[in-house]
Amino acid sequence: MCLAIYHEDVLVGFTMYCLDFEDKEYWIYRLMIDAKFQSKGFGKAAMEQLIDRIKQDKEHKVVYLSFEPENMLARHLYEKLGFEADGRVIDGEVVYKLAYD
Ligand SMILES: CC(C)(COP(=O)(O)OP(=O)(O)OC[C@H]1O[C@@H](n2cnc3c(N)ncnc32)[C@H](O)[C@@H]1OP(=O)(O)O)[C@@H](O)C(=O)NCCC(=O)NCCS
Repeated sequence: MCLAIYHEDVLVGFTMYCLDFEDKEYWIYRLMIDAKFQSKGFGKAAMEQLIDRIKQDKEHKVVYLSFEPENMLARHLYEKLGFEADGRVIDGEVVYKLAYD
């Protein structure tokens, strides 16, 4: 599922998530805020809405994502939202997970 991220009527970013066909769990595969709109809270707000959307599927209890280990901004954002490392590194990216009820 691909979603555009809007602030009012302005397109500020893009995100993509799906139920992965291998592990049958939710993965957020992309989160991108346009460079000129970064650091204004849109990434965090978009993630909060996306997580709420994923949580509506009560048959699942976890969401995964991955990012390049040197991307400290992404790490900070995801940790603030409650994600934690699950120990895996896939294609050079650290895997984080958020477990929920
Ligand atoms: C990573 C990304 C999604 C974050 O989105 P954003 O809208 O820029 O970030 P936000 O404004 O929502 O800020 C999120 C947190 O990072 C902090 N932050 C934002 N910009 C910062 C900066 N330049 N330096 C330090 N901290 C910063 C914010 O203060 C906030 O933390 P806080 O809630 O503790 O204050 C965005 O910068 C982006 O698209 N980057 C390029 C693509 C990418 O790296 N995607 C993620 C990899 S999967």
